[in-house]
Amino acid sequence: MAASKGISARRRTLKRAIARSLTIWSQTVDSAAEFCRALDLLQQTGARSPVAISSISAAAEAMQEIAKCVQSWHLVPIVRDGKQDGFLREFGAPMFDYIRANPHYSAVFNRAMTSYSVVETQWALAALVSEDFSQIRTLCDVGGGHGHLACGLLSAYPQLRATVLDLPDVVGETDRLWAPKLGLSQRCRYLGGDMFHEVPLADAYILKSVLHNWNDDECVRLLVNLRRAVVGAGRVFVVDFFVPGPEEPHFSKLFDIHMMLMVTGRERTAAELAELLAAAGWRYDAWHRVPNAFHSVIAATAA
Ligand SMILES: C[S@@+](CC[C@H](N)C(=O)[O-])C[C@H]1O[C@@H](n2cnc3c(N)ncnc32)[C@H](O)[C@@H]1O
Repeated sequence: MAASKGISARRRTLKRAIARSLTIWSQTVDSAAEFCRALDLLQQTGARSPVAISSISAAAEAMQEIAKCVQSWHLVPIVRDGKQDGFLREFGAPMFDYIRANPHYSAVFNRAMTSYSVVETQWALAALVSEDFSQIRTLCDVGGGHGHLACGLLSAYPQLRATVLDLPDVVGETDRLWAPKLGLSQRCRYLGGDMFHEVPLADAYILKSVLHNWNDDECVRLLVNLRRAVVGAGRVFVVDFFVPGPEEPHFSKLFDIHMMLMVTGRERTAAELAELLAAAGWRYDAWHRVPNAFHSVIAATAA
């Protein structure tokens, strides 16, 4: 009894300290902490002390970094003048430029992305199950972060070798990369570079949560790069929150607003992506959807 009173008191003190450092009400700390735990930004260190997180200051900093997404939500001016990119308005630079210049924000953002991937890789693998991967020997995961999806594919398809292309700082976070952790380094290389400049040769490309960050012209520029580099009648697989018809409620419709407010991108319908693919020299093949998954996959072949 005395011990449990001690734990409750410690928990209250911890919550107040986090709330003070964030200038928020302590009642909201549980929700914020839960959100950060879901993004793998906080660790729960003991079964008996749910708020026993690894470090108060790390928690507070992580929450403040993540809050930058919300600070960029300049809904009214963006809707009025149509000039997208709330991150640019709020922080004076497009999000990925800001990330490059701010290592701390970058670390939090990249961790959040990799954490989403733990669920999203499973959706992508399930959506791709009807695709024939037997002829694909080399695959490049473009903007592939720490390589969670690439490693999922390497595990599913033993003949495959993968390159994970991302910004140098992202692939430079060596303690966060999945391939060494999963013993897949021999079949997976990490390459730092700019996907708008050059992509490595491959039989197939995959892009998860990448095209939705960019406007149509930027997407076509990227897809043209892939088309130039693809080997033979290669493939491209685009994994995103594709928007279904107006009658179907879907998470993509909320995320579309988020992308509109944060960056230059948007969520697209399958028909809209097919147009961009065609403009870049790809032929749309199929839209693979799986029940209860927010993501789906659009597959195309070099035309
Ligand atoms: C929304 S994240 C998605 C990451 C990963 N595909 C995933 O699903 O977890 C977009 C990724 O694109 C990368 N990126 C942005 N601009 C890039 C560029 N010019 N060249 C290469 N990668 C870029 C970012 O660093 C980031 O890892």
